[in-house]
Amino acid sequence: MKKYLMTPGPTAVPERVLLSQAAQIIHHRTGAYREILGEVIKDLKYVFQTKNDVFILGSSGTGAMEAAVVNLMQRGEKALVVKGGKFGERFGEICEAYGVEIEAMDVEWGDAVSPYEIQKALARDNDIGVVFVTLCETSTGVVNDVASIGRIVKETKAVLVVDAISALGSVEIKTDEWGLDVVVAGSQKGLMIPPGLAFISVNEKAWAKIKANVKENTCLPSYYLNLTKTRESFLKTDHPFTPPVSLVLALKESLAMIKEEGLERVLARHRLLAEAMRAGIKALGLQIYAKSPSDSVTSVKVPASVDGLALVKKMSEEYGITIAGGQGKLKGKIFRIAHMGYADRFDVIIALSSLEMVLKKMGAKVKLGAAVKAAEEILI
Ligand SMILES: Cc1ncc(COP(=O)(O)O)c(C=O)c1O
Repeated sequence: MKKYLMTPGPTAVPERVLLSQAAQIIHHRTGAYREILGEVIKDLKYVFQTKNDVFILGSSGTGAMEAAVVNLMQRGEKALVVKGGKFGERFGEICEAYGVEIEAMDVEWGDAVSPYEIQKALARDNDIGVVFVTLCETSTGVVNDVASIGRIVKETKAVLVVDAISALGSVEIKTDEWGLDVVVAGSQKGLMIPPGLAFISVNEKAWAKIKANVKENTCLPSYYLNLTKTRESFLKTDHPFTPPVSLVLALKESLAMIKEEGLERVLARHRLLAEAMRAGIKALGLQIYAKSPSDSVTSVKVPASVDGLALVKKMSEEYGITIAGGQGKLKGKIFRIAHMGYADRFDVIIALSSLEMVLKKMGAKVKLGAAVKAAEEILI
């Protein structure tokens, strides 16, 4: 059976990117590698829409989240953590692991955070040094209004950290224009390469805070994720430690693909696919879970008559389509279909077609072809 990977990470990898990893390993302390790294960093800045520093870490996305926490937070300082899903919660867990006091902003799962609430929290509490927010909360499929949050946090002393792990390359993020101090991302999502790399951009405001932490000796402990050390190496177009060279080669290729298509068109493609997916879902009488849905992943409420875990299993076992179920308290209650990275119109059609068949077999009242038709009306 032909397999289709449609989870919100990892995502499918284009053939030319897969092939690029087959090249012989080159040593990372050579001119040949540095030339590649220099190009990759330049192209990453294009996708991040930034002139700030962008570093590559040999870790999954969580490594970049942890790097943001350990470099930016001071001992004794407070973090404002927006928790509207599993990944917002993760920022809180990392802070707690390092003994950082957090003020949790609990947002109803499925809702976006109100930027006004962030403004009020910052006005109330002058001890908040860093605000952590997720652009696309993958566990709920919600996209947050990071542009407005950026405008608000910019007016305060606090630094804003944005998790764009399931957004970069698929959902608009204007790092510099929106005043986002630190942005973290990962490889296995919109950037279309296998898991194993994380990225972090850092602007002047964030650097000023990191440098003050170092000077006042109020830093949290770090070694592998120490950004001051990372920056010293990247200034020489180098890494502090041995990088996953093959993944960097893959990244070079995937960034070339993004440049060839053009970032604007890449984002427009994601908007179109998301619109078609949502239209198809609604045509089946199903409900989108996220109130402010992301263009990278669509979360759908499981109809009352259907077993949500069985639905995800059947999609995979009977039709070869791997989608994701709900996480944490949403287990069995929603399913999530990604249209992120190496995704095009017929991925949406295939996913909706198999969904119709699975639902029908499970006894739900669906009209075969209804979702596909609705999506085609958009995609045509
Ligand atoms: C929004 C978001 N944040 C963080 C993560 C964690 O990334 P990783 O699994 O690469 O460590 C993910 C991955 O699913 C994510 O989607």
